[in-house]
Amino acid sequence: MGRYLDSIPFSGIMRIRDMMFGIENPYRLDQGDVGFDAPDAVKVAMNQAIAENRTHYVQTVGIPRLRELIVNKLRRQNKTPIDSVDDVMVTNGGIHGLYVVFHGLLEPGDEVLCADPMWPSTRGTIQSAHGVPVDCPLYESRGWRPDLDELESKVTTKTRAILLNSPQNPTGGVLTRTDLERIATIAHEHNLWVISDEAYEDIIFDGEHHVSIASLPGMYDRTIPVYTFSKSYAMTGLRLGYFAIKDPAVRERVKKVLYYTCSNIGTVVQWGGVGGLEDAQDQVETYRVELQARRDLFYAGIRQLASGVLKGEPPKGAFYAFLQIDPAWRPPNSTETPKSLSWTLVEYLIKDGRIGCVPGADFGPHGEGYVRLCFAKTREELTGALASLKALLDVQT
Ligand SMILES: Cc1ncc(COP(=O)(O)O)c(C=O)c1O
Repeated sequence: MGRYLDSIPFSGIMRIRDMMFGIENPYRLDQGDVGFDAPDAVKVAMNQAIAENRTHYVQTVGIPRLRELIVNKLRRQNKTPIDSVDDVMVTNGGIHGLYVVFHGLLEPGDEVLCADPMWPSTRGTIQSAHGVPVDCPLYESRGWRPDLDELESKVTTKTRAILLNSPQNPTGGVLTRTDLERIATIAHEHNLWVISDEAYEDIIFDGEHHVSIASLPGMYDRTIPVYTFSKSYAMTGLRLGYFAIKDPAVRERVKKVLYYTCSNIGTVVQWGGVGGLEDAQDQVETYRVELQARRDLFYAGIRQLASGVLKGEPPKGAFYAFLQIDPAWRPPNSTETPKSLSWTLVEYLIKDGRIGCVPGADFGPHGEGYVRLCFAKTREELTGALASLKALLDVQT
């Protein structure tokens, strides 16, 4: 019976997407999509796969060449002590990776410690796997990192896993090596799994380095790191991701979910992934450098808003500005206290300013009072959105 799905909401991001389709010439800062196109190496490899008729069924877990390149990348870049290519499975993007992992891992009622705010799709995924997300606040004053004593205090007999996402969506918070060491100790002491969503591993700024928790001593035994080509390679619409699992019993269960949800991932896209890993590493770095410049451009514009309605520090990773809304802000001609400040501002910015953005409330209770804007768009789109923001908010004094 699928009735349990009635209690799992669609994320507000979908509602906003629908609202945006009704807006002419919108600034799409609501979507976590990049303003670049996929690297030539990816497109050439995909064209070649089509020309060579690589259009038939393949292995459920992914084509051998792609898995081999992924293992090399996990060893070299993420320092994951992975012994065998058997650990790796290829997925239809990161969201599908998270789906199959949680469905293969969780028993009904298992609790998963999650960040609040967090990307709402993972919350829904855990719920669809009959799991229970347990919110652990992130604090802006700590660079959007959790208080790890507080996190440990939320462990119960039902806790099965900790979900990590660093760099984080929506806040851009980055966990330090010290944070990860403490989380590793908590996982060992309470016998927990760690699901590490590393979708933004390559989008990290100001000389910070991404550390995968699976690289810490003994942690790969109990960590499932989940990745996507979407953000690093500007391949959001192509749908390609992967994860690695050491435990053979869990791996077998997860593989069943993979098989029953897709049989195999599109062959042409998998060859595109081969092209990306073989020949587009310099492109990933070029994107990162440009994203840092766009972040700085966007925050310079936000600081110039005379009204100060929006404020926040530039994030260390990912590509979102998660900005605090002045609690005293009200839309024009309104003095009422809104039910949700973040939804009220977002509706105003979309309808009157054509600016797509996502209310903080959509990411969890601790997100209320904030708004998320994606700065991975083209410079022209960012400048246009900033001008529109200025026109709307600078009159609010
Ligand atoms: C935190 C996080 N994880 C995973 C994903 C998955 O992305 P995709 O399904 O495009 O690979 C996203 C996409 O926005 C994300 O923000």
